[in-house]
Amino acid sequence: MNASLPDSGHPAGCRIEIETRSPEQTEAVGAWLASVLPDGCAVALYGELAAGKTCLTRGMASAFGARRVHSPTFTLENRYGSPPRQLIHIDLYRLPGPSALPDLGWEESFDPGQGLSVIEWADRVQDLLPGFRVDVHIQHAGETVRKITVESAHPDITLPVPPVF
Ligand SMILES: Nc1ncnc2c1ncn2[C@@H]1O[C@H](COP(=O)(O)OP(=O)(O)OP(=O)(O)O)[C@@H](O)[C@H]1O
Ligand SMILES: [Mg+2]
Repeated sequence: MNASLPDSGHPAGCRIEIETRSPEQTEAVGAWLASVLPDGCAVALYGELAAGKTCLTRGMASAFGARRVHSPTFTLENRYGSPPRQLIHIDLYRLPGPSALPDLGWEESFDPGQGLSVIEWADRVQDLLPGFRVDVHIQHAGETVRKITVESAHPDITLPVPPVF
């Protein structure tokens, strides 16, 4: 795994880039994020089909004791652990439209006492995302290679240097 700090225009600790070479490494990035992000923080995931959003989420959920993680389908969200050590996994792929968000308990999902949340297809509700979040972009960079960019969207969230595999 390679990490670089910082990028132009971003103070150190606000943006990191990581390259993973296997699903297991992407899961490890998720587990690392779960261990360093503050309570109440949301992780907004961006990336095309099969980029690795659920894979990264699986790694996050492992830090909350989950063994099996599948994307939520009809409910749009799954929960792992229990508050305050909880991960709320939201997948907006099947969201009919932003008006369906209140039914999902959208606002309540981001209470500090709820733990962490992670949102697949975050770009579908970009204007409604909580401000206390990190944005994680995952891009294909080869059959088993992914470029992951983690960027803090809030001044109170700083990112430590990620582990090197
Ligand atoms: N470095 C890597 N990181 C993550 N996944 C990888 C990597 N290399 C290969 N893969 C494969 O890419 C796929 C990622 O699937 P995953 O379900 O995590 O994607 P997704 O972004 O959630 O897709 P969807 O948009 O369908 O929800 C898996 O089949 C995984 O094995
Ligand atoms: Mg997915």
